[in-house]
Amino acid sequence: MGKIHGDVVFVTGASSGIGREIARAFMDEGYRVYGTTRKKALQEDEVQLEKSKNSSGFIKMIRLDVCDEESVEKAVSYVYQKEGRIDILVNNAGFGIAGSIEDTSTEEALEQFNTNFFGVHRMCRHVVPIMRKNGGGLIINISSVAAQFSIPFQAMYSASKYAVEALSEALRIETRPFGIKVSVVEPGDTKTGFTQSRQYVKGSDENSVYFDTFKKSVEKMIKDETSGPGPEVVAKAVLKIAKRKNPPIRVTVGTGYKVIVFLKRFLPVRFVQYMVSKMYS
Ligand SMILES: NC(=O)c1ccc[n+]([C@@H]2O[C@H](COP(=O)([O-])OP(=O)(O)OC[C@H]3O[C@@H](n4cnc5c(N)ncnc54)[C@H](OP(=O)(O)O)[C@@H]3O)[C@@H](O)[C@H]2O)c1
Repeated sequence: MGKIHGDVVFVTGASSGIGREIARAFMDEGYRVYGTTRKKALQEDEVQLEKSKNSSGFIKMIRLDVCDEESVEKAVSYVYQKEGRIDILVNNAGFGIAGSIEDTSTEEALEQFNTNFFGVHRMCRHVVPIMRKNGGGLIINISSVAAQFSIPFQAMYSASKYAVEALSEALRIETRPFGIKVSVVEPGDTKTGFTQSRQYVKGSDENSVYFDTFKKSVEKMIKDETSGPGPEVVAKAVLKIAKRKNPPIRVTVGTGYKVIVFLKRFLPVRFVQYMVSKMYS
């Protein structure tokens, strides 16, 4: 069956969690998927092939670090040389840092933005010209509910996702004349490798004035993530977007989160702040 936006998909951060499930979901629907990982074991031009049991789809894993311009260029041109096109780009690679704003160094904040925000920018800069040449495409950026509600002690993570949403909204307008559609997906707490990969800022130790609240807040984050749904729910939402001719600008994943995001439009900001502070501190 023909695919509305084409069948060559590029998923960043497909070695684990949400990216892994997105890659699998596309593969099972017959898409030709190129997933990425930074893992050293894979050589630049070496691929691990996973084939779908139910369709002609596959996943090939290639090496990519979204923080490295040369690595982005190599990975994108590898796929372009193989396929002559990239139809769907899913910017999924990301991680979270935790710590109060006061305890976070500029270097730590920059590291967070380098992956979560500039990683998306680098990928778009290299993939958009290919999509333009081919007359269109679809870009799906994995944001977070934290781009709707800035979470205490995850301010830099939240800010990086707010920034992804700002980029996506403008990109959607800029690339519309070239037939390139842009959507953002906002998952809530999801059970993945994200929790284990979280980095704690150096200043967040027992000497921090925030230590007690920070600790409680982190315990809450971990509990919510590890008891959250699996990454399949996010993959399902992404696939649904890919099947729409005119994808929506923003999709929040999970009924509970959808309701909260909807209500936020009508509730006073002070009330929203009160609720978030009750939840996390
Ligand atoms: N889990 C949640 O609760 C949740 C909620 C909302 C949004 N999200 C977002 O969902 C996305 C996926 O996260 P996840 O929950 O699936 O976490 P995960 O299981 O830790 O997966 C993260 C993926 O990102 C890749 N990655 C990290 N840094 C990278 C870099 N510099 N260059 C290339 N790839 C990189 C990792 O690949 P390698 O280590 O193999 O390179 C891995 O495949 C992230 O953008 C995250 O912010 C997650």
